[in-house]
Amino acid sequence: MDLKLTEEQEMIRKMAREFAEKEVAPIAAEMDEKGEVPFANIRKMAELGFLGLTTPEEYGGAGMDTVSYCIAIEEISKACAATAIVMAVQNSLVNYILLKFGTDEQKDKYLRPLAAGDKIGAFALTEPGAGTDAAAQQTTAVLQGDHYVINGTKHFITNGGFADIVLLFAMTDKSKGHRGISCFIVEKGTPGFSTGKHEHKMGIRASDTCELIFEDCKVPVANRLGQEGEGFKIAMMALDAGRIGVGAQAVGIAQAALDKAIAHAKTRVQFGQPIGQFQAIQFMLADMATQIEAARLLVYNAALKKDAGERFSKEASMAKLFASEVAGFVTTKAVQIHGGYGYMKEYPVERYFRDAKITEIYEGTSEVQRMVIASNLLKE
Ligand code: CAA
Repeated sequence: MDLKLTEEQEMIRKMAREFAEKEVAPIAAEMDEKGEVPFANIRKMAELGFLGLTTPEEYGGAGMDTVSYCIAIEEISKACAATAIVMAVQNSLVNYILLKFGTDEQKDKYLRPLAAGDKIGAFALTEPGAGTDAAAQQTTAVLQGDHYVINGTKHFITNGGFADIVLLFAMTDKSKGHRGISCFIVEKGTPGFSTGKHEHKMGIRASDTCELIFEDCKVPVANRLGQEGEGFKIAMMALDAGRIGVGAQAVGIAQAALDKAIAHAKTRVQFGQPIGQFQAIQFMLADMATQIEAARLLVYNAALKKDAGERFSKEASMAKLFASEVAGFVTTKAVQIHGGYGYMKEYPVERYFRDAKITEIYEGTSEVQRMVIASNLLKE
C-alpha cells in the first residue's frame, strides 16, 4: 500500500485546513453554545466543492477519491466535528447512494444540486423503535396508483431541520421483514412532510438533529430509489460508506485534542517545570499519538478498499470502531492533561471530549461495528 499522499490529496488538505482554521475554528465554541452551524459556512463548503467531493464530475461533483474525503473530514473535524458531519452525511449517506441506485432522471434532478451544494440532504432511517435494529421500521409506504402514501416518524435525523432532500426508508411490505423496506427521495415542502422536535445533545451540539414526520405524505413512484424491498441493502451500503467518514471525524477530534494537550504540556508549569517534562504526561502523549496514527491508517485502508471497488464493510467498521474508541481515549486523556482547566468550557478539550462520544454511537454503535466485523470474518 502506497501511503504517500498525492498532490491532489495534499491540495484538499490545504483547502480544508484553511477553511477550518479561518472560518470554523474561531466560531466553534459559539456554534456549540448556540447549537447551530451558520448557513454561511455550509455555503462555503459548497463553494469549495466539499458537499460533492466524491461525486463524479459528470454529475457536478469534485470527483475526488475517498482518501481526499477523509482528509477533508479530518481537517474540518479538528475545528468543529458538527460542521464536518454536515459534509459527511451529504457525501456518504446521500450523494453516494443516489449515484449507485438513482435512475438517470433521479441523478439529474437530485444528485446534481446536492453535489453542487445547492441542496442539502439527509438520511432518514432511524425511528424511536428502530435504532440498532434498523430493520424494525414502523414507517409505512403504501402504493396507490402512481404514488406511495407515507406515514410514520423518523428521529435523530442529522441535517433534518434544513435538508432539502431526504432519503427516507419505509416498509412497503411488513410481511417480508428487512426485505420489505424501500427507499424514497422526499423533497422538503411535500405536503404531509414536516419537521418535529429538535434535539439538545451532549456533543456535536451545532449539528442539527431532528424529528421528521410523515402524515399521508404522497411521494411519486418515480421517487422510489432502487427496487421495492431493496431499501435495507441500500441503507447498509450507505452506512458502510458513512462509517469511513465517521472514522475520519473521530481521527480529527482526537488529533485536535492531542494538539491542545501537547501545547498545554509545554506551557503549563508545575513543580518548577513544564508538565511535559514528567514521564506520566509523556507516556500519555505517546499512547495518544500512536493510537491516532493507527486509527488514521485504518480509515485510509477502508477508503482505499472502497476506491478500489472492493467490498469494504468490514474495513469501514474496523476503522469506525477503532477510531471512535481512540477518540474517546484521547479526549479523556487530553482533559486529564489539562487538569481542572480541561473541565472548563473556555478550553476546547471539554468540547472535544463531548463531541467524541457520538462517534461511538451514530452510524452504528461500537457493538454494531463488532457485529459487522465478526459476521464478515465468519463469511470469509
Ligand atoms: N451491504 C449490502 N447488503 C448488506 C450489508 C451491506 N453492508 N449488510 C447487510 N446486508 C444485507 C444482507 O446481505 C442481508 O441480505 P439478504 O436479505 O439477502 O439476506 C440483509 O442485508 C440483512 O442482513 P443482516 O441479517 O446482517 O441484518 P440484521 O437485521 O441482522 O442487521 C445490523 C444487521 C448490522 C445490526 C444492521 O441493522 C445495522 O447496521 N444496524 C445499525 C443501524 C445504524 O447504523 N444506524 C445508523 C443510523 S443513520 C445515522 O446515524 C446517520 C447520522 O446521524 C449521521
